[in-house]
Amino acid sequence: MAKYIMKKSNPLQGEVCISGAKNAVLPILAATLLSKEPCVIKDVPALKDVEIMSKLNEALGAIVEAEPEKNKVTVEAEKMNCPKAPYDLVTKMRASILVMGPLLARLGKAEIFLPGGCAIGDRPVELHFKGFKALGAEIFMDEEEGKVTAHADRLTGTDIYLDFPSVGATENIMMAAAMAEGITLIENAAQEPEIVDLANFLNKMGGKIKGAGTDCIKIEGVENLHGAEHNVIPDRIEAGTFMVAAAMTRGQVLIRNILPDHVRPIIAKLNECGVDVIMGEEGMIVSAVDKQLVSTDIKTLPYPGFPTDMQSIFMALLTTVQGTSAVIETVFENRYMHVPQLKRMGASIKTDDRCAIIEGKKELRGNKVIATDLRAGAAMVLAGLVAEGRTEVSEIYHIERGYEHFVEKLQGLGADITRMDP
Ligand code: EPU
Repeated sequence: MAKYIMKKSNPLQGEVCISGAKNAVLPILAATLLSKEPCVIKDVPALKDVEIMSKLNEALGAIVEAEPEKNKVTVEAEKMNCPKAPYDLVTKMRASILVMGPLLARLGKAEIFLPGGCAIGDRPVELHFKGFKALGAEIFMDEEEGKVTAHADRLTGTDIYLDFPSVGATENIMMAAAMAEGITLIENAAQEPEIVDLANFLNKMGGKIKGAGTDCIKIEGVENLHGAEHNVIPDRIEAGTFMVAAAMTRGQVLIRNILPDHVRPIIAKLNECGVDVIMGEEGMIVSAVDKQLVSTDIKTLPYPGFPTDMQSIFMALLTTVQGTSAVIETVFENRYMHVPQLKRMGASIKTDDRCAIIEGKKELRGNKVIATDLRAGAAMVLAGLVAEGRTEVSEIYHIERGYEHFVEKLQGLGADITRMDP
């Protein structure tokens, strides 16, 4: 298995350009299935998860032309005829569930295997089904096989209240409702920027969606959606990762292709630690040169709260600052898999259920550690850049699912990191 090898690096210096957002492009690729006409998606990051979503679209009958070197994917779903999402693709990537809304809207049926739990929690999808049922779909669950079959003649708009502002459920319901008869209101909807990007894409296709980015989204269903061209928003979590990398190595980095509004909680928390963040004409400058950084507390929340996807990465930083920090994870029930790994590098962290207490230390030490999931893996890489000696991160396929050219971008900033093939 390939590994990343890191040595203690100099403060990161220079500039980095942020790629298109993984969590925006995955639902957008699912949404291309809603039209019989070609859709052209640009600023698509060349990632494993994008490959899986493209394969899934193909398995359903769409023609997909992927041009990763141009960060472009074209999908033509005129002949989409298969309502069955194959087991091996769905179990490889949880976001596969996002094809269910488009399948129901286009074909009136969908058959999908339940994605199951993952490293960060159980991750049920009952809110997606609750939404489809409210729109008039019949849902049959084969618990033994873990298979779900859904049918609907034509979905009918209605009011749907989400018990939790689930990102995936909001996206799936929005896509299904885009072609339903009448008006759908999603209340307590997720407000993440990726929801807004999906709504913008659907509106370019001829959809009638208002209120995306607030907790109430109004969708007026239309008969048909046409083809469209769309540029994906920059990845706010990749941006946050490089912001923290600059802070952690006490460096100064210019981050290009970043939308400051999308990273407000990260800026606020870095400021509390003593990091300077300035938005200039060319991008965002994050500077911690010669700074004595201090502790802060974090509570993860749905957007616009502090993102759960940044929790492990920020915790890596907190292990190196002066003072005691508290972290509370409220979104996922099991998102502290990085804690034992950080402790292997000398970090002082205690956890109790969803709370972690971090005693900041001067120095971490290099060790062999595992990327237990995508964001936990990124946290271990950043820890490796400031730890004394050599750090080896294995199971890096998790990291490569979500960060485009991660090693090359870090090397471009002066980091001592290499990818070692087996
Ligand atoms: N939840 C339910 N029932 C549901 C749906 C969700 O209880 O029907 C719970 C989940 O178990 C979880 C919480 O609600 O505890 C949040 O789940 P949500 O549905 O909002 O997350 P998601 O759509 O599965 C997306 C991102 C995740 C990110 C979360 C939260 C994509 C493809 N994935 O997942 O990204 O952590 O939102 O912001 O958009 C990552 O990029 O590393 C990643 C895990």
